[in-house]
Amino acid sequence: MIHLLDFQNVVRHFSGLVAVDGVSFSVSNGETLGLLGPNGSGKTTLLNMISGALKPTSGLISLNGSRISGLSPNQIAHRGIARTFQLVRCLPSLSVSENVIAALAFGKEKLWGQEAKDRALQELKFVGLGDRANEDVSSLTYIDQKRLELARALATNPDVLLLDEWLAGLNPVELTEGIDLIHSLQDTGTTIILVEHIMEAVRALCHRCIVMNAGRIIADDATAIALENPEVIQAYLGVPDA
Ligand SMILES: Nc1ncnc2c1ncn2[C@@H]1O[C@H](COP(=O)(O)OP(=O)(O)O)[C@@H](O)[C@H]1O
Ligand SMILES: [Mg+2]
Repeated sequence: MIHLLDFQNVVRHFSGLVAVDGVSFSVSNGETLGLLGPNGSGKTTLLNMISGALKPTSGLISLNGSRISGLSPNQIAHRGIARTFQLVRCLPSLSVSENVIAALAFGKEKLWGQEAKDRALQELKFVGLGDRANEDVSSLTYIDQKRLELARALATNPDVLLLDEWLAGLNPVELTEGIDLIHSLQDTGTTIILVEHIMEAVRALCHRCIVMNAGRIIADDATAIALENPEVIQAYLGVPDA
């Protein structure tokens, strides 16, 4: 099996604190991997190291067999990794389509002019915002801002998409729409790493789950098996948002 993304003994310290403590795993092409664990277990730090926002203290992260740990976020985006943020980060002074066009500049292929506009519209249609292209971002509801953030990430045509609690804060109807949207993304072959607390979404979407606790992996298994692991259940006990 081809390993698209590979972690070898990755460690990240914040002064005295060990946020990620020797993590090794691989992600295969086309896989959707759930990244779970109680608050503070190191999930966002791990995503930040993949996207280059943080560098590992030690260890190696590689994409398609080439090291990416140590590269800048821009260099990593060009190699084919895109992300959404736990807090939506659209550019409020630009229109919906301009937001996607701005994101195009960070991808593997540079597009300009009409080509960029066409591509932006294609992504907006995919996420369900095809008829909102010319509106102000400020007119978008919360879920539509999330859709836009996804369109921005997809505009870079990533091999690996990192979703940090992209489904959080949605009502039940929106959650179903969000899960359907990620399903259609899976059909395109995109490899997805999903940090998610909503178990309904994890069960519906993730082929496999890695569960972290205190910076270490305590389970790495097919989703149903990982969620039944006694150590995993123990780690979640008493965690209010789990
Ligand atoms: N920039 C930072 N500076 C200092 N400590 C941090 C920083 N980012 C995260 N941490 C700490 O690292 C640990 C893991 O955090 P994080 O990766 O955000 O966990 P999660 O996303 O699983 O909730 C926590 O103890 C957190 O307080
Ligand atoms: Mg987090």
